[in-house]
Amino acid sequence: MGMTEWWKKSTVYQIYPRSFMDSDGDGIGDLRGIIEKLDYLQELGVDILWLSPVYDSPNDDNGYDIRDYYRIMKEFGTMEDFDELLQEVHARGMKLVMDLVVNHTSDEHEWFKTRPDFYIWRDKPTNWRSFFSGSTWEFNKERGQYYLHLFSKKQPDLNWDNPELREAVYEMMRWWLDKGVDGFRMDVINMISKVADMHDAPGSDGSHQFMNGPNVHTYLQEMNREVLSKYDIVTVGETPGTTPKEARDYTAAENRELNMIFTFEHMGLDQASGEKWDLKPLRLTDLKENMEKWQHGLHEKGWNSLYWNNHDQPRIVSRFGEDTDWRIESAKMLATCLHFMQGTPYIYQGEELGMTNVRFESIEDYKDIETLNMYKEKRAAGVPHDDIMTAIHAKGRDNARTPMQWSDEANGGFTTGTPWIKANPNYPEINAEQRHDPDSVYQYYKELIGFRKELDIITHGDFELLLRDDSDIFAYTRTWENETLTVFCNFTENTKAVQRPEGEVLICNYAVNLSEGDVLLRPYEAIVFYKN
Ligand code: NOJ
Repeated sequence: MGMTEWWKKSTVYQIYPRSFMDSDGDGIGDLRGIIEKLDYLQELGVDILWLSPVYDSPNDDNGYDIRDYYRIMKEFGTMEDFDELLQEVHARGMKLVMDLVVNHTSDEHEWFKTRPDFYIWRDKPTNWRSFFSGSTWEFNKERGQYYLHLFSKKQPDLNWDNPELREAVYEMMRWWLDKGVDGFRMDVINMISKVADMHDAPGSDGSHQFMNGPNVHTYLQEMNREVLSKYDIVTVGETPGTTPKEARDYTAAENRELNMIFTFEHMGLDQASGEKWDLKPLRLTDLKENMEKWQHGLHEKGWNSLYWNNHDQPRIVSRFGEDTDWRIESAKMLATCLHFMQGTPYIYQGEELGMTNVRFESIEDYKDIETLNMYKEKRAAGVPHDDIMTAIHAKGRDNARTPMQWSDEANGGFTTGTPWIKANPNYPEINAEQRHDPDSVYQYYKELIGFRKELDIITHGDFELLLRDDSDIFAYTRTWENETLTVFCNFTENTKAVQRPEGEVLICNYAVNLSEGDVLLRPYEAIVFYKN
């Protein structure tokens, strides 16, 4: 086996700066707040920090609508703060990855005025629906044409078919990399290439005309040649609607595109239709089958990223776990299930504390444009308030965006002012002070992160699913050279016996498992055996 790239043995921690730590009492997280908490992150043992966008933005979509790629958002601080953050991250032996949002800009970006050829215009709209409700087309009076926006109308899509636009993006990327940042997480990067003849789509889902489009690989290879290959960095593409085959095209080393991508299939298993708000309970067998497909699909042919959470997803302990009686057990169980797979794991802020979803009763307390647009649209169509709230409580992105819970002080210690979004009222019970408890979720994550560095089998081993048809237990082995890891995760409150594998217990989310012979799995128990 050749040299292993550093990002294959790394664990990433995602920071959503607006909600992480507010250092100046304005209710909005900021860069100095992140600097204050770097020791906490170093202690956890993570290797890479990914910052959701910190660039100048009118915040229609909390920074995913960039007005100026070369400036820091006022509320977050200054470029000097950023430089200090980068230096402090490096001083602690960690790396810093930036969000790269180049499928679209803000409509307040100066290009939107001065470089209309950088955007996508048509005389007639198609019937496509935006990810944030309504049409993907907005009429522009001055030009007398419609511009494309897959997201909000303040997020016009960039025209990647224009080589001058591509060069402007590459120049900006070099500027950040020359500053010393260690890579990019690329926002919806598989949507940058649209078909030439955009047309009405059946059911108004035009995604085949812009996801994994005709030139996407050509452009990513060009980006790699022009920029990425010149630096020792890590790249991860956000690629909704992508199959393992397409994922291999993006991540196979010989294709020279990206190091890894975020896949979405496992995040769609608890929805009944193409719409995420259309709720359906998860069937564990579906999850197992899907994870297996991806583990096999990329093994030695590409590279996986592993995630349960991010700023767009509800909290995993409330989603696939149990967030009241078994919160701590199920948070640790879910972590176990993911962190022994092949790939680079991502931890989203607060996941390491077992933070949960939030249930605001009033729509006024929600801030996310996706949620608010959907609420308006469904109300107008006559859907009762309570039904919509049920969907928001389960799936809304603000579940992930409530302030990080640092302590039992007001607002979880996130701010001394009024937070831009209310804190989850459970911060007195769930907060980072608990990390000092050896049995905390935090300490458990720390152990998992440590194993990935110690045990090469986690990076390289073959994956095999066990107990395929069992609807309660997610079990698998990893094998490599003479070693075997056997992982059992109970996704239910049912108690169940499984056959004892070879080896010793490496980690368990209960203090001890005393069973002899068969292994008795208690509610939400996770136990891992290691043989060498
Ligand atoms: C994906 C990002 O993760 C999400 O937060 C954002 O709203 C869209 N892309 C548009 O940039």
